[in-house]
Amino acid sequence: MSGSEGTAKRRTVTLHMVSSLDGFIAKPDNSVSWMDNPGSIYEAGVSISQEEIAAFLEAIDCYVMGSRTYEHALELGWPYGDTPVVVVSGREWPPARKSVEFYSGDLKTLVDVKLAPRYRNIWVVGGAMLCQRFLELGLVDEIKLTIAPVLLGEGLRLFGGSLSEERWNLKNVVAYKNGFVELSYSAAGA
Ligand SMILES: NC(=O)c1ccc[n+]([C@@H]2O[C@H](COP(=O)([O-])OP(=O)(O)OC[C@H]3O[C@@H](n4cnc5c(N)ncnc54)[C@H](OP(=O)(O)O)[C@@H]3O)[C@@H](O)[C@H]2O)c1
Repeated sequence: MSGSEGTAKRRTVTLHMVSSLDGFIAKPDNSVSWMDNPGSIYEAGVSISQEEIAAFLEAIDCYVMGSRTYEHALELGWPYGDTPVVVVSGREWPPARKSVEFYSGDLKTLVDVKLAPRYRNIWVVGGAMLCQRFLELGLVDEIKLTIAPVLLGEGLRLFGGSLSEERWNLKNVVAYKNGFVELSYSAAGA
């Protein structure tokens, strides 16, 4: 793996998800194509160029995801380039691309022992099950939640269903021209 090895700065774990207005991250058939369909143009919103997106993604040192999200990403077409990806799974997997490694075990150990010494900007990108576990364990520093302008009615619930009450601090809101809104929060006390 490459990355920010040897940096003294503290790592940040950012949890990023895209949710429908009614709190689903995938349809019952797992499809996420609703994310690609913009609503009507929101004139006051911002738009970002491909170059800005590329620069933003460049700053992410490592992605962490559950095995179901990994399987779905393989099906849809790998969106993570050569950025290191850790797939959390208790199963055996066939050899994958060079940037991917599999991890089975305690998630706090994953973050503190395996990732923190190597990476500063760590993104947990789903799915519901893994994100719920990261939140339960208090391993998340920031939540970036993008709300898509669509009601799905049913599907896979954002963060699963059994988190306890916890306050987060709103840090930023960005409304995009395509009707998506990105909400950024930091953990209370962070
Ligand atoms: N809208 C969005 O932003 C977004 C983002 C990501 C994913 N998604 C969608 O969400 C769906 C997948 O989410 P999901 O909740 O079903 O699954 P998931 O969280 O992606 O993966 C669950 C799997 O991860 C492994 N896992 C999770 N926690 C673990 C732990 N503490 N220790 C060990 N292994 C652990 C297990 O793998 P094993 O069974 O292999 O042991 C578990 O079955 C897909 O449809 C995907 O497209 C949507």
